[in-house]
Amino acid sequence: MNKRITASDLKNKKGNSKIVAMTCYSARLAVILDRHADLLLVGDSMGMVLYGHSNTLSVTKRMMTDHGKAVVNNTKKSLVVLDLPFGTYESGKEKAYETASNLLEETGASAVKLEGGKKVFETVEYLVSKGIEVIGHIGLMPQNIKNVEGFKSKGHSRTEQEDIYSDALSLENAGVFSIVIEAVKEELAKKITNKLEIPTIGIGAGRYCDGQILVTEDMLGMYKNFSPKFVKKFANLFDIIDKATNDYSNEVRNGKFPDISNIYK
Ligand code: KIV
Repeated sequence: MNKRITASDLKNKKGNSKIVAMTCYSARLAVILDRHADLLLVGDSMGMVLYGHSNTLSVTKRMMTDHGKAVVNNTKKSLVVLDLPFGTYESGKEKAYETASNLLEETGASAVKLEGGKKVFETVEYLVSKGIEVIGHIGLMPQNIKNVEGFKSKGHSRTEQEDIYSDALSLENAGVFSIVIEAVKEELAKKITNKLEIPTIGIGAGRYCDGQILVTEDMLGMYKNFSPKFVKKFANLFDIIDKATNDYSNEVRNGKFPDISNIYK
């Protein structure tokens, strides 16, 4: 049986091998992705990807628990990380601890991720002091965004760049074991990656992060007319599923399916 990757295994990858991370919310995909990923994130992007909402804000602790369990129970090797849902940790460190500890206890996941830099310093420090493994998330932070149009890259002005850079240092000092950097210029992500001792995981943050994460459904091409610049489609599942369901519907309608090989005698 494979041993599950730990937060400290992931940290040790810095400078040795690139970290492969993907989002995952469901059992069937978990079984496949676990064969390839170091880290599986039960991200609050599930609100948009699975539930069709226009942002991540509607994701609840209940949803995170149910999807988190599905992923943990169907994986053996990957480090499973859960997003702390919007509204479940911002009011203070005790509330954040209650949410994080409940989620980890109920799902068996290994770590939580939360958005913010300097603003969440005290919370992160507290969670880490209580033995909770935490990943930070800086740059574009989807929980600050009200709709799809708000998903714009960050770090255009010098002030914004300095702010993101100091967010990264602050999170490292608070004790996170890794930081997700989303939608910032490559040069800034490179500077942060070179400065930190912990690994960075980029999404739309260029080539120099210590690892990469993508929303799995984006990378698999589940959307016909949506593909941000930073996503590479490694498959075109929209067309594959579209063709398969078209074939199925034709065969049902013209009586070709089921045939003799599909029936109980
Ligand atoms: O929720 C999510 O999927 C994320 C990734 C985009 C990193 O936070």
